[in-house]
Amino acid sequence: MCIINLYINGRYHRLPLINGTFDKAIDISKLREYTKLITFDPGLKNTAITKSSISFINGENGKLLYRGYPIEQIIDKCSFVETCYLILNGSFPDYKQLKFFKEKINSFDSIQNKIYNFLDKIPNSCHPMAILSSITNILSSFDNSIKNEDSHFYLLSKLPTLSAMIYRKKYGLPNIFIKNKKSICYIYNILKMFFSIPNKSYEKNNHIIDALEKLLILHIDHEQNCSTTTVRLLSSARSNIFSSISAGINALWGRLHGGANQAVIEMLETILKDGGNINKWIEKAKDKKNSFRLMGFGHRIYKNFDPRAKIAKYVAENLIKKLNIYDPILDIAKNLEINTLKDSYFSEKKLYPNIDFYSGIIYQAIGIPKDMFTVMFALGRLPGWIAHWIEIKNNLEPIGRPRQIYIGNKKRNI
Ligand code: ACO
Repeated sequence: MCIINLYINGRYHRLPLINGTFDKAIDISKLREYTKLITFDPGLKNTAITKSSISFINGENGKLLYRGYPIEQIIDKCSFVETCYLILNGSFPDYKQLKFFKEKINSFDSIQNKIYNFLDKIPNSCHPMAILSSITNILSSFDNSIKNEDSHFYLLSKLPTLSAMIYRKKYGLPNIFIKNKKSICYIYNILKMFFSIPNKSYEKNNHIIDALEKLLILHIDHEQNCSTTTVRLLSSARSNIFSSISAGINALWGRLHGGANQAVIEMLETILKDGGNINKWIEKAKDKKNSFRLMGFGHRIYKNFDPRAKIAKYVAENLIKKLNIYDPILDIAKNLEINTLKDSYFSEKKLYPNIDFYSGIIYQAIGIPKDMFTVMFALGRLPGWIAHWIEIKNNLEPIGRPRQIYIGNKKRNI
């Protein structure tokens, strides 16, 4: 075992060095025992809280691996369901394994009336992410027959259906029941459930299916992001998978995390309405006295291009071309990217567009409203959350419980 000698208060302390596949880390778990010192790392910027073999980001070079495979290869060659299998099981499925996997997902396609009734009572003013997390949390109580080992198939089947129901209710479309037919692909089925209207089935468009498939693959997993770490923390407390995923949905909703996709489009629309003066908004983002930030820019780990943003940009441009639509928002986004890349504030701080910068443009072209963007992100991230929840459970990781530096009053009397 490699050892790091840490010199504190006139003594060397021997701390083990942990070798990951790519990174090395100092194991400080015994530091307090040896030295009475704890470590301070707000935002966990330099702390590995776990070991994981699901995905890896090389932030300096802008690379992302799912179970070792580069995201670019996966996008070119795999479907969402195949990638979902890879993330959950560690390797790609053969024909029989994929067939079984799809059949298991499809076996949980029905939605009980009790769920319709529950949804009906929620006011339309409620944000779709709040509804999705609430229903996910109580989902298992609608169905007592669900076995633990099937719960991830159950979630993979139910969440797209529930998301479509949330959308349809909010936007006044009648409820229709679309079966997850074996012949229908997972992504096409999502679109059918969202957009079918009575007496007229949803017109299949392969460009839209391909764009949504790619976008959801890009979202499947991303190491220890805020929502995934939330799911892992709940799993470490041995919370059930439904409440853990529900908590992950709430974490994703935040504007600095997955909620940025809605915030980006709102920002781009504001810039457009304001006359499209991009430089004015760039200056605002640089002004430390102003709380405005360029949404869809910057990332904790990527200090280079986010490889997902590059792919999402290509997918957005391609879809808009194929659908023969003009979206002035895409022009604003592209010019914003060009101008920030030339600006020393952004280059010195290594701020590049992230996945959320172009994803909203794709959703808009598909016809998905702004307040449903983060719900779509959640559908993409679901397999990753499940894989992380299982990883913690299988490794019997200890409960996540960080320390703090107390800065309140010393003991005082009333
Ligand atoms: N616009 C302007 N300045 C920015 C931006 C931005 N979007 N992002 C970071 N900065 C600046 C900060 O002001 C800070 O400057 P300083 O060093 O002079 O104080 C510096 O860059 C570092 O930023 P931090 O906030 O310390 O970086 P952190 O890693 O904590 O945050 C985050 C990363 C939250 C993504 C941040 O870049 C941000 O707020 N971006 C906008 C929101 C967004 O797009 N979120 C989606 C992220 S991807 C995802 O979760 C799916």
